[in-house]
Amino acid sequence: MKSIILNTDAKMPILGLGTWNAPKDKVGLAVKQALLDFGYSHIDCAHVYENEKEVGQVFHEVFSTGQRTREEIFVTSKLWNYDHAKEDVVNACKQTLVDLQLNYLDLYLMHFGVASPHGMGIEPLDANGVLITAKVSIRETWEAMQKLVGMGLVKAIGVSNFTVPMLVDLLTYAEIIPAMNQIELHPYNQQTKLVEFCKQQNIAVTAYSPLGSQAEMNNGKLALLEDEKINEIAAAHGKTPSQILLRWGIQRETVVIPKSTTLEHIKENNEVFDFILSDDELLKISSLERGLRYVDPYEWWKIPYFG
Ligand SMILES: NC(=O)c1ccc[n+]([C@@H]2O[C@H](COP(=O)([O-])OP(=O)(O)OC[C@H]3O[C@@H](n4cnc5c(N)ncnc54)[C@H](OP(=O)(O)O)[C@@H]3O)[C@@H](O)[C@H]2O)c1
Repeated sequence: MKSIILNTDAKMPILGLGTWNAPKDKVGLAVKQALLDFGYSHIDCAHVYENEKEVGQVFHEVFSTGQRTREEIFVTSKLWNYDHAKEDVVNACKQTLVDLQLNYLDLYLMHFGVASPHGMGIEPLDANGVLITAKVSIRETWEAMQKLVGMGLVKAIGVSNFTVPMLVDLLTYAEIIPAMNQIELHPYNQQTKLVEFCKQQNIAVTAYSPLGSQAEMNNGKLALLEDEKINEIAAAHGKTPSQILLRWGIQRETVVIPKSTTLEHIKENNEVFDFILSDDELLKISSLERGLRYVDPYEWWKIPYFG
């Protein structure tokens, strides 16, 4: 299976390239090679990654020369916390479209269910280092995002970093059911009940940080790619640990979006459709659960977002 079908009936490639912390001087080449040389058809972007202009230059080059068509590529972007107010949502989406040099997004996600004030920087903190929040409800933001679909700016809308109670509440008023919940998922943080809940509600799930995120960000947390069992299973298949982790995500029917700006890694990460993990291997991988989050907003915002 190389694609999933969203609740909008759109096809979404199950593997995409992540771009968080992809440096401005490397992200363009990474996206270009992914699209032109390594068979990717899906790029995961966000305004807050501060590299959408560089990605946009490549989209322009690739589409204007006809090397790939716009329709072949699935592009996701995300609305940042400081653009949650209803008067800011359309402008934020339009800015992302300008930066990415696109007429529409395939999917636009609310990056976090937390609003912060406009014009105070990406992560405004008070004197105690706690995120300054704005009085904007998730409902206000979602209702403004729904309008983007009618305006033709986005084909689908969804959320990211949403927990079950947040989704239950959103579903009480949503006229458009989120097409996606993008959350941190890997063998050390499997969130099985949340994944099952989303599937029951016809909300697709994307696994971010599927390789255990980026070592330099991990503050000494256990490195998933070095896990002994993952390495044993990789050796048994003649595959790499990254390929095992991605294959595990795909066999769970979750979309996976590994980030890489290293060309061999970009190539390797898309070579995961020629083998299958057995039930026994899936069970072994499931036993690795340890509730370890690599991306924990408490570390930046002192808000225990995930408890
Ligand atoms: N919605 C959200 O809040 C949220 C949060 C986090 C991430 N995301 C999205 O999810 C994407 C992926 O998550 P992530 O960036 O946290 O981490 P990740 O994809 O789990 O891991 C990326 C790290 O693994 C390395 N890597 C990639 N392929 C490899 C391979 N084959 N062998 C060895 N190392 C490899 C990368 O280095 P090289 O670049 O050198 O290959 C990088 O250091 C992000 O880029 C972003 O698009 C979304």
